[in-house]
Amino acid sequence: MKLEKLSLSGFRNHIATNIVCSPTINLFVGKNGQGKTNILEAITYLSIGKSFFSVPDNNLVRRGDAGFLIYGSFKSDNGSVYNVGIRYTGENKKKELRINNKDEERVSSLVGMFPVVILYPEQHSITNGGPAERRRFMDMVLSQAHSSYFEMLTEYRRLLRQRNAILGESRQRDHRVRDMLEPWDETFLEYAVGITVYRNNFIKELETYLKNNYNNIITGSETPVLRYESSVPVTEGIGSDEQKSKAYEAFAETFDTERRYGTTVFGPHRDELVLMINDFEVRKYASQGQQKSFLVALKISESQYLLEKRNEQPLILLDDLFGELDRERSNRVLELTSGMGQTFVTSVDETIGKTHYSSLNGHIQFNVSEGAVSNV
Ligand SMILES: Nc1ncnc2c1ncn2[C@@H]1O[C@H](COP(=O)(O)OP(=O)(O)OP(=O)(O)O)[C@@H](O)[C@H]1O
Ligand SMILES: [Mg+2]
Repeated sequence: MKLEKLSLSGFRNHIATNIVCSPTINLFVGKNGQGKTNILEAITYLSIGKSFFSVPDNNLVRRGDAGFLIYGSFKSDNGSVYNVGIRYTGENKKKELRINNKDEERVSSLVGMFPVVILYPEQHSITNGGPAERRRFMDMVLSQAHSSYFEMLTEYRRLLRQRNAILGESRQRDHRVRDMLEPWDETFLEYAVGITVYRNNFIKELETYLKNNYNNIITGSETPVLRYESSVPVTEGIGSDEQKSKAYEAFAETFDTERRYGTTVFGPHRDELVLMINDFEVRKYASQGQQKSFLVALKISESQYLLEKRNEQPLILLDDLFGELDRERSNRVLELTSGMGQTFVTSVDETIGKTHYSSLNGHIQFNVSEGAVSNV
């Protein structure tokens, strides 16, 4: 997948930005606070229908403007062109999506069409934050890789909200709560198992990529390990009747606890992905450098996984990579990623085009200043 053109109107601090992208490497260079990250945020918006930061769409509208428009022209690896426009109107919070001059009903139908891998500084929480950050990571990759996962996850979250509402309201009062939950619970369990199966398989495949990538970055021989811990017992015999009845039993056993706490304690929304190097946990014991290398290796692995599942090279967005890693490691990351697909990199260092990319063909360096973008 390549993004050939990008236009932003009224998005963050961009009044009217028009970019013709390089099919290889795009460098956005400028001082702090000029609008570099905003460009990566807009590209992400085109490919998943929302920002990578958890912020309301209204924050993305340029202060004083009525709404924003993002337009991108994508070319898939097989040559098909997709002209994608998203218009957001602040007043009525309306989001409209058009692909190739046709209105799409739901913006979420974008997810997976234009796969993207994003690395931005806040994602350190994947390696050093709580379990929710790592679940978000898994969901983001799997939703882009498999439409059925995304649909299942959306439904699961809806059922979970309903279930929690019933459990919360009826805590210690209503003895009929089991009857009230019954109509939802079979589907709830089915999705809980489905999501867990996907995540288990994903983790196994990702680990294979990760082992290579991590050692390429650190040029050492440590072993990165991914371990998935789930309340849903689906590690063996996936899909069999025995498996289903085991999951059902485990689910049923949590009922008293759920009544007591007034919330759902069984299911993939409580699971943990443990990241390890050799036999120690990254979050607790890894050095900062090890954590950063782990994260970058995870992102490169994500890109390889998406390519395999979607048969489409994802776009790679690297926000402030050079602020993240030392020169030797960031050079190695650039070597690795530039061979993988179209890359978008931001930096405050205006010499990076010369120092990092002079040996690579076709890069374009853009200057970003007060929300305006120009070719260098
Ligand atoms: N809704 C908005 N309307 C207008 N300006 C905004 C809006 N949201 C953010 N900005 C402005 O965008 C700028 C930040 O842009 P961005 O985060 O892309 O900077 P950056 O170039 O990546 O900087 P750094 O190098 O510090 O990461 C700030 O000046 C901020 O005030
Ligand atoms: Mg930035």
